[in-house]
Amino acid sequence: MYSIAIDGPAGAGKSTIAKLVAKKLQFIYVDTGALYRGLAYACLSEGLGKENREEVVGVCKKSRIEIAFDADGTQIVLLNGENVNPFIRTEQVSAMTSGISVYPEVREVLLELQRGMAASHDVVMDGRDIGTNILPHANVKIFLTASVEERAKRRYLEQAAKNPAVTMEEIRQDIIERDYRDEHRETAPLKKAEDAVLVDSSFLSIEEVAEAILEVAAGRGIL
Ligand code: DC
Repeated sequence: MYSIAIDGPAGAGKSTIAKLVAKKLQFIYVDTGALYRGLAYACLSEGLGKENREEVVGVCKKSRIEIAFDADGTQIVLLNGENVNPFIRTEQVSAMTSGISVYPEVREVLLELQRGMAASHDVVMDGRDIGTNILPHANVKIFLTASVEERAKRRYLEQAAKNPAVTMEEIRQDIIERDYRDEHRETAPLKKAEDAVLVDSSFLSIEEVAEAILEVAAGRGIL
């Protein structure tokens, strides 16, 4: 089995790129952020806040998270058998996910599921600690990043349509804070694995980034 790990901060384009690379190679794309989001949604549904650590850990441990795929390869997160994809992309879930993913016990819940996917399929897996922690022996490790300015600009364009009141400065601050939290948490912080290839997507198109990754993969015998 081949595995390609793509880590990096929010807004660098990981999911778009990972999806495209997976399609070109006919690998499965595993979006690990969606798994953490599924657990965060379970906790919110029980009325918990991120500060209720003990209860959060309890809910995460008893929740059954599974991955399925629909006909066109889109990942579906099943929480206790229910497709929760429609509910995990809200701002509330994003904030809760960021809050609970700092707990090592929560990360532990998803460890085997992620490793199991890579053991049974050729995967492109994106997240924060895939190359450093989940798949330390991945065939290809990419650390995909982009400048704060560029990521803020992309997110602004995405959100302005939904929420006209949002300002560029708010988004910029939010990105800086989330980066800080992801990079400074004790368990599995966001950082480039020593053997990861750094790709900066600030001035590259989606196609160019995908090509760069496919080139690295080809160099490792993945064609
Ligand atoms: O990639 P995303 O925006 O869907 O991730 C949501 C949150 O989950 C984000 O705050 C970081 C966290 N996360 C993580 O800690 N580890 C991963 N492998 C993936 C996501």
